[in-house]
Amino acid sequence: MLSGKRILLVIAGGIAAYKVLEVVRRLRDRGAAVRCILTRAGAEFVTPLSVSALSGEKAYQDLFSLTDEADIGHIRLARDCDLVVVAPATADLMAKMAVGLADDLASSVLLATDRPVLIAPAMNPHMWRNPATQANLATLTARGIRRIGPNAGAMAERGEAGEGRMSEPAEILAAIEARLAGGEPLSGMKAIVTSGPTHEPIDPVRYIANRSSGKQGHAIAAALAEAGAAVTLISGPSREPDPPGARVVHVETAREMLAAATAALPADIAVCAAAVADWRVASAASEKLKKTSGGPPSLVLAENPDILMTLSASGSKRPRLVVGFAAETERVIEQAAAKRLKKGCDWIVANDVSPASGVFGGDANLVHVIDAAGVESWPRASKSEVAERLVRRIGDHLLQRSKGIPVP
Ligand code: PMT
Repeated sequence: MLSGKRILLVIAGGIAAYKVLEVVRRLRDRGAAVRCILTRAGAEFVTPLSVSALSGEKAYQDLFSLTDEADIGHIRLARDCDLVVVAPATADLMAKMAVGLADDLASSVLLATDRPVLIAPAMNPHMWRNPATQANLATLTARGIRRIGPNAGAMAERGEAGEGRMSEPAEILAAIEARLAGGEPLSGMKAIVTSGPTHEPIDPVRYIANRSSGKQGHAIAAALAEAGAAVTLISGPSREPDPPGARVVHVETAREMLAAATAALPADIAVCAAAVADWRVASAASEKLKKTSGGPPSLVLAENPDILMTLSASGSKRPRLVVGFAAETERVIEQAAAKRLKKGCDWIVANDVSPASGVFGGDANLVHVIDAAGVESWPRASKSEVAERLVRRIGDHLLQRSKGIPVP
């Protein structure tokens, strides 16, 4: 699939640059022609000599090089390729791309190109989660720039760990192939995702809630949007930024979440990752409850509607694939399997939410995907990786179904 393709690889300044040499080698092994641009910082991590030895071309570095300009010129460099790949995409280069700076060869080419662009971010986890980087990412995504990673794991800085490691060469290669194949696997499909907790009022100032942060659900919405789906994310109260490319409906209560979810039907895919409160206060007080000599008030609870169950039973409007989550603290797989049958969804993603697992509010998750065929246990991974893998599974499943291949 890569034979005859021309890849322009922009190598920015990060420790992950060393992995990009392997990407160059593998691309050439598969018959692609690779041209590389090294930023000034990039050249601190890998040498122009190794880049040109592996790519078989000179390593382009200088915007004002008379020989390069006479030879090829930065505009031609920007256009003479099938795909531009930025790896590692540093926080700095992403920021330049987002605001359209063009103060060196790499940023000028990225501003001038009319080719598809794929970025493989790599940076310290704090830099990755910084709202500035996330806002830049949202801007780039909205402009059609696609990304692979980052993954979670140990950082080069001693003692640091989290999301920010550049994807592995094999993953970058797969993303390049997918991008060049042109198709976004879920393009033309509509997806509904629920995420975060719900807040169920007791009175105007107090509420019943839970520890969900929205990280898992938001990551799924982002991955579905990356895969080309038109995503409606229905989010309970969460500090997570709105994922790029998704339409976000902010709600407070389970009943508001249900109304937003049913209003978003029909859809092809529904993923219910929200931690919806099972109960609400039957009649919330309209004024703040006061301490009285009569002792504490009793709260009478009423059952909330079940959004997953409602979507699973929505008749002709039922999404083709309904995926629930099961938050369990004991007998995780057994309880989740029973929940899948009870709620009528196609798959259920079971996770252990006992406090020791750190799943509620944390950055990583360990899940078991249960469908009619059985259980698939995945290794512990960042919530983004879980989301990306789940979305790949969803894409494969729908593709097989569209070809008439029986799937669970
Ligand atoms: O938000 P994070 O901090 O990232 O944490 C992620 C998570 C632990 C919240 C997530 O991975 C998860 O497990 N979400 C489901 C939480 C939950 O409420 O599970 P449950 O077993 O109680 O519910 C089963 C399913 O029914 C879920 O898909 C839930 O969204 C859905 N449900 C439950 C009750 C209800 N009234 N309506 C529903 O739709």
